[in-house]
Amino acid sequence: MTTAPSDTQIQRYDAYTSTDYRIWRLLVQRQLKALKPVAAAEYLHCLNELYPILSAEHPPRFSDLNRALREAHGWSIEVVKGFLPVDEFFALLARRRFCSSTWLRREDQLDYLEEPDMFHDIFGHIPLYLNADYANFAQKLGEIGVKHAADEEKIKQLQRLYWFTIEFGVMRQEGETKVYGAGICSSRQETRHVFENPDVEVLPFDLDQVMKQNFVIDKVQMRYFAVDSFASLFAAADELETRWG
Ligand SMILES: [Fe+2]
Repeated sequence: MTTAPSDTQIQRYDAYTSTDYRIWRLLVQRQLKALKPVAAAEYLHCLNELYPILSAEHPPRFSDLNRALREAHGWSIEVVKGFLPVDEFFALLARRRFCSSTWLRREDQLDYLEEPDMFHDIFGHIPLYLNADYANFAQKLGEIGVKHAADEEKIKQLQRLYWFTIEFGVMRQEGETKVYGAGICSSRQETRHVFENPDVEVLPFDLDQVMKQNFVIDKVQMRYFAVDSFASLFAAADELETRWG
């Protein structure tokens, strides 16, 4: 569809056209193929748990996803029209709500979008909210964001932490780099880039270094930070909360 059917802040499932179904199927099928050998085991496991609610067969129905998310760790989807102010975004995370758009990209936008669509928001982000450590990490980021909303510098650092984990995070598993960030998992181009560009750097995750690392939103990343588990990611956020008080 060409316009966001989210004026009422709900998903109008019957508004998806046969073209939307086709594009969704194409995106899921080709990304599944790309991710199977390179995605973190947790991401693939969660994706599998969500089958057939989240699958190539049809665009995801948010009411079905919400049932699964709530049952797992109390999360749900908040339908939004576009980018939210950062304080509202963190406030939603703190309440275990993840924002998603409901529109789907056009065929000529398969590989590049300026604003996230439902494929990015749902296929990229949602599966890992079935993982307790990841879900707790995201909520903790939200809580810290709410607490320090008035401190511009701290919010900037938190946005970097979010960027290099939830959006573009990678993980070391059995000696190999695996991807879990939604910006990678929902992009064939970025998935290839992580493994095929010889200039890409994968550094061990270091909280202070990550919070100092600038990023650009309209290019593929040249530097990624690898965590060794979601439990250690949660521990880093916990440490930050203690440090910042
Ligand atoms: Fe995202």
